[in-house]
Amino acid sequence: MSDHHQSIRNVSVIGLGSMGSGIARTFLDGGCRVSVWNRSREKVDALVSSGAIACDGPGDALDASTHVVVCLSDYSAWRKVIEDHDLTGRLNGTCIIQLTTGTIDDVQGHASVVEAHGGRVAEGAVMCYPSNLGTDESSLLMSGAPDVLDECDPFLSVLDSNWTSLGEDINRPAILSRALIAGMVTSLVGLVNGAAICRAGGVPLEIFRQLNDRSAAMIQAEKSRLVEAIREGLTEDTEATITSWGGGHQAVLSVASTLETNLVLQDAVQGVFQEGQRMGVGEHDLSALVKVFDPASG
Ligand SMILES: NC(=O)c1ccc[n+]([C@@H]2O[C@H](COP(=O)([O-])OP(=O)(O)OC[C@H]3O[C@@H](n4cnc5c(N)ncnc54)[C@H](OP(=O)(O)O)[C@@H]3O)[C@@H](O)[C@H]2O)c1
Repeated sequence: MSDHHQSIRNVSVIGLGSMGSGIARTFLDGGCRVSVWNRSREKVDALVSSGAIACDGPGDALDASTHVVVCLSDYSAWRKVIEDHDLTGRLNGTCIIQLTTGTIDDVQGHASVVEAHGGRVAEGAVMCYPSNLGTDESSLLMSGAPDVLDECDPFLSVLDSNWTSLGEDINRPAILSRALIAGMVTSLVGLVNGAAICRAGGVPLEIFRQLNDRSAAMIQAEKSRLVEAIREGLTEDTEATITSWGGGHQAVLSVASTLETNLVLQDAVQGVFQEGQRMGVGEHDLSALVKVFDPASG
């Protein structure tokens, strides 16, 4: 076996919380030799009983494999691990596959530390649950230098056979993952708010659920249409203007108010519509609200 093939079978995982343990288990299932380290030892022991190799410190995990996945709660935890265990001198020649959720500052700062000490970074974001890893529902967003992503591919493919490359800009996984979360969070919080309104008004939640399910395909198509309109800069023509959407939402606010449900979400959304009116896009398509959120784009 060539050196390259030998090295691709070894991988280390630093951080064995829900996600890190899921990553380590998926590597084990994929036939990799997996060395693991975690601050609390019991999570290491649980993985060792499934075939992983225990590391006494994070430095041992760096030494054990050329490719090291880091998945901690946040980057400050990783900075603390680096500091407490004096790891900078052990980064030379190591490729860190960083799957911790971080900010743009975190991502930039981390890459400069690793690269200044002779290491390489593949920067990523996980967009699925640990149980989805290694299945068709897995979703990894990755960026890094082409040769680094190339050398990481055998590992990334074990976790997500269809992992998404976002190119060289290492900020992109943080940006795209947060943009996706923004859409998911507001939609899911809105759904919970709608359920609360139904419940307060005595409408059975089973009917609410069925009608939500029935509109799912239409909403999905509308989401695609909105993104395409923004991408093409065609945000004026529409079947339903921002003014009419705002009027519909004003009615939500009124019903919610009569039922005495909390209006915190309605007030925030109403503010977005008012801002659209103030910016003169009231008679445009809903996609024109992009100007409210990103006024610099013109
Ligand atoms: N879980 C998910 O569904 C999911 C989905 C997408 C992305 N993610 C991302 O994956 C990352 C890990 O999430 P998780 O769900 O695995 O979190 P978690 O279960 O809370 O695990 C956190 C990990 O960070 C370690 N840690 C925290 N502070 C530390 C410190 N100061 N020094 C050393 N280790 C420290 C913990 O060690 P101990 O065990 O010793 O406490 C544990 O290994 C996060 O960035 C999260 O946003 C998670």
